[in-house]
Amino acid sequence: MQRIQAFLLPLLLTSFYYSSYVSAQPSPNVQKRISKAIADAANSSNPDYTAFVNPFIGTDNFGDVCPGASIPFGMAKFSTDMTGYAPAGYVTDPTQFVRGLSPLHDSGTGSSLGTYGNFEIMPLLCPGGFNTCTTTLAARQRLRKNNTDDASPGYFSLTLDNNIKMEATATRRAGLERFTFPKNSKPYFVLDLANDLPASFAGGNLTIDPEKGRITIGGLWGSSFGPGRFNYQAFACYDLLDGGKQKLSEYGVWTGDTVGLDAKGLGQTRLNLTVNLIGGVYQSGALFSYDNKPETVNIRVGVSFRSEDQACANAESEIGSSSFEDIQAQAKALWQEKLSKVEIDIAGTPANVTEMLYTSLYRSSLTPNNATGETQGVFADTTSFYFDSLYCSWDTFRTFYPLMSLHSPIEFAQIVDNYIDGWRKNGWMPECRANNLPGWTQGGSSADNIVSHFAMLYHNEASQLGIDLNELYSALVTDAEVNPPEWNIEGRQANVYKEFGYVPFAVLDVSSTGRQTREGSRTLEYAFEDFGVRQVAQLLGKTDDVAKYTNRSLSYRNVWDPSVKSDGFSGFAQKRYSNGTFFFNNPVDCSPNDKNTSRSCSLQGNNVNGFYESSSWEYSFYAPHDTAHLVQLMGGNDTYVKRLDHFFSAGYFDASNEPSFQTPIGYHYVNEPAKSVDRVRQVVFNNFDITPAGLPGNDDQAAMASLLVFHLLGLYPVPSSSQYLILSPFTPKYTIHNSFLNVSTTVTTVNFDPKSVQKTVPKNTAAYVKSVTINGKPADSLCHLDFYDTFRVGGDIVITLTSDKNAANDCKGSVPDSISTGGFPKAR
Ligand SMILES: *[C@@H]1O[C@H](CO)[C@@H](O)[C@H](O)[C@H]1NC(C)=O
Ligand SMILES: *[C@@H]1O[C@H](CO)[C@@H](O)[C@H](O)[C@H]1NC(C)=O
Ligand SMILES: *[C@@H]1O[C@H](CO)[C@@H](O)[C@H](O)[C@H]1NC(C)=O
Ligand SMILES: *[C@@H]1O[C@H](CO)[C@@H](O)[C@H](O)[C@H]1NC(C)=O
Ligand SMILES: *[C@@H]1O[C@H](CO)[C@@H](O)[C@H](O)[C@H]1NC(C)=O
Ligand SMILES: *[C@@H]1O[C@H](CO)[C@@H](O)[C@H](O)[C@H]1NC(C)=O
Ligand SMILES: *[C@@H]1O[C@H](CO)[C@@H](O)[C@H](O)[C@H]1NC(C)=O
Ligand SMILES: *[C@@H]1O[C@H](CO)[C@@H](O)[C@H](O)[C@H]1NC(C)=O
Ligand SMILES: *[C@@H]1O[C@H](CO)[C@@H](O)[C@H](O)[C@H]1NC(C)=O
Ligand SMILES: *[C@@H]1O[C@H](CO)[C@@H](O)[C@H](O)[C@H]1NC(C)=O
Ligand SMILES: *[C@@H]1O[C@H](CO)[C@@H](O)[C@H](O)[C@H]1NC(C)=O
Repeated sequence: MQRIQAFLLPLLLTSFYYSSYVSAQPSPNVQKRISKAIADAANSSNPDYTAFVNPFIGTDNFGDVCPGASIPFGMAKFSTDMTGYAPAGYVTDPTQFVRGLSPLHDSGTGSSLGTYGNFEIMPLLCPGGFNTCTTTLAARQRLRKNNTDDASPGYFSLTLDNNIKMEATATRRAGLERFTFPKNSKPYFVLDLANDLPASFAGGNLTIDPEKGRITIGGLWGSSFGPGRFNYQAFACYDLLDGGKQKLSEYGVWTGDTVGLDAKGLGQTRLNLTVNLIGGVYQSGALFSYDNKPETVNIRVGVSFRSEDQACANAESEIGSSSFEDIQAQAKALWQEKLSKVEIDIAGTPANVTEMLYTSLYRSSLTPNNATGETQGVFADTTSFYFDSLYCSWDTFRTFYPLMSLHSPIEFAQIVDNYIDGWRKNGWMPECRANNLPGWTQGGSSADNIVSHFAMLYHNEASQLGIDLNELYSALVTDAEVNPPEWNIEGRQANVYKEFGYVPFAVLDVSSTGRQTREGSRTLEYAFEDFGVRQVAQLLGKTDDVAKYTNRSLSYRNVWDPSVKSDGFSGFAQKRYSNGTFFFNNPVDCSPNDKNTSRSCSLQGNNVNGFYESSSWEYSFYAPHDTAHLVQLMGGNDTYVKRLDHFFSAGYFDASNEPSFQTPIGYHYVNEPAKSVDRVRQVVFNNFDITPAGLPGNDDQAAMASLLVFHLLGLYPVPSSSQYLILSPFTPKYTIHNSFLNVSTTVTTVNFDPKSVQKTVPKNTAAYVKSVTINGKPADSLCHLDFYDTFRVGGDIVITLTSDKNAANDCKGSVPDSISTGGFPKAR
């Protein structure tokens, strides 16, 4: 969860906390339509999966989800921008005002002021004519008509309280906007040059070509989650005439502020503005109207990160003269293709599960934004694929890419190519690319666990998929070994980590700069990143490196302070001085139970807690590659189970935070898998549902969505390995299609009981795994399976459930792998 950057953006969540509004958005028809589609599809052989998607899930409660019109991984995501806390532009809160519709957005990112609200257009009624139009941000903002917002894959719509309806649909780098005005009104539009949401405008141009009916626009803005001194460029091309069917009336430019400036230049066609050195909100743009009082106005928009010309070319090549309906149908078809990679038994699955599943799958293909061919800076003209908004790898390596790897290796390979290209061009793989710029590192080089996961699963096909494994390995080793001069934006503080075996607190670092905080969690994450390197070294037969990085992957032990006690449990991860002395942090600090609401827990310079956005209670469970030893450190199996139970019952678990993702399944490692099944049910029903507030927090570029998919499918991935843990599916049957490997894997849940699909499994209800067969043969363990035996080759997995929880609380075979007990012995 990238929360807020209080040190850059002094905006506190609490200052916005919406009191208690009656939910008035989206339109109730959205849920009605979805419920009907699910019911109707029950026995369909060819279901429309896009009809099950609710783009509004996660648009409230700080989910930061963008419900805008987009294709899979689209660079364009058309959505309205609202006042208040709305990082993705849109929020359901009906008391917030709309400032316009804009073509670029991120989904599920956490910077409080948001980003990518560039090139916003707002339809207006100006009864007093051009010079009376409300152009500035404050003057033009309006409420929407309650209960009208609508969206579906590839489509977004919102109706203002003056009855102007805005709709949008998208291609990868372009889109169509359709505005419906009240009868007999003259349509006016204000187009914003400067606003991007965080007010980071650093200069730009706008040109109106009245003959062509075209406005080109572009400029420079600042990163939403990285150093303020870097700027990115973006461009748009607005075609206003709908291929000659519409006629401009007036046009001109405007500029304004909040203290009286409200100037308009009728007939002027050009703005050429440089950076406003005093900073803050700069307001300027175009204003135009149409002749003949048309009821609908169609506007074509192209976007580019390279040039105005390319923005226009993108609109021409991707949309041309296609109609709104054509583009919408095309977008929908692309989504159907993506969503149908996972098929379920719709009739047998609780409707809420179907809606949560397909909505989560949808968001798991919404980002990162495919900006291939739209490169700038050091990436300009790269021949690699290029994705914007890798925001952040610390969030996405745990579940997002392991999910993608089950069904979409081609897309995964493109993203891996893009990570490796980051290493080629910048020296290290990107950690948190935001707005085409390097963003802040969280746990070091989490990209290591992304590219190594790819290598573990697809090394046989890597070259066919365009990935050179030796190059991939070189990128890993650079991340692990080479300390960047500045490690806030890439790489790790590797020199001191290598010297001490942990990232020391308050260490003298004479050769690199970076924010010296989070030493506890950085050590834990660096250790798991080293495990990723180790796995690829093993794959490539680099024996010395296997020994070296296996050893380094155990560095998590070096920040374990056995003397720390909390709630009767002993032994917690702590940050540590370079002389070996531990620095005491109360393990409760920065947990949901922390009473001190002013404590800094994120990237702030005064974060003295050793753990990034987490408590020691939470991060002390984190060694996914060596949980067996963690169990020993915690005092053995019984104490570990008691501690896990206490972690949840006492409220230390933070469902919205990535380091907590695997903790509910921790019982597997001490051979108590039935307890994991119960815990996952509880986690899902305490934290997720089908409402706009149905996420526990920021989606983190679908890290949450992909976690939920795994929970619903009864699987959980161990990143950088081919191991997936087995739980109890929330559906009687599902099939995952892998269109590159040309295999399909069907998981059948025998004895599935829909009654088990609730927070607490009722007594005598089948929910616990009694047996597993893989292509007819009994599985070696009921707790884990290997990709190479299952999703790699396709076929059938049969999971038989029982209501006898005690009998099923046994892996009946090995527990999942841990390094210290001989786990991960070879790459498959
Ligand atoms: C929509 O409803 C909210 C309360 O739920 C209210 O505050 C707001 O004014 C309403 N908007 C309009 C346009 O009526
Ligand atoms: C779907 O099929 C099942 C059995 O095959 C039947 O019981 C059920 O009524 C059907 N549902 C619908 C909505 O047609
Ligand atoms: C505005 O356009 C001019 C001329 O094309 C160009 O030199 C300048 O860099 C542009 N400004 C920005 C901020 O993009
Ligand atoms: C825009 O302004 C910049 C200086 O800020 C100047 O270099 C450039 O030539 C101008 N471009 C046009 C097209 O007027
Ligand atoms: C990204 O865009 C490029 C260029 O159109 C395309 O070849 C590629 O398949 C796209 N990848 C994804 C994951 O959307
Ligand atoms: C493992 O690391 C420890 C220090 O943490 C070191 O003493 C030992 O020699 C290392 N072993 C190998 C095989 O590199
Ligand atoms: C280690 O350094 C810290 C901070 O300077 C100090 O408080 C502590 O006493 C030192 N420990 C030892 C064993 O010298
Ligand atoms: C709360 O945390 C802040 C920031 O770390 C600290 O300055 C303050 O003393 C703490 N308050 C209490 C009551 O511990
Ligand atoms: C703890 O659990 C593990 C995994 O089931 C098992 O191998 C080990 O023997 C157990 N330890 C004890 C002391 O029972
Ligand atoms: C489905 O979700 C809605 C919204 O969270 C909830 O009100 C309803 O009880 C759920 N239905 C079932 C059967 O779980
Ligand atoms: C899967 O099938 C496609 C189309 O027939 C083919 O191009 C591709 O090579 C196949 N993939 C593998 C891994 O065999």
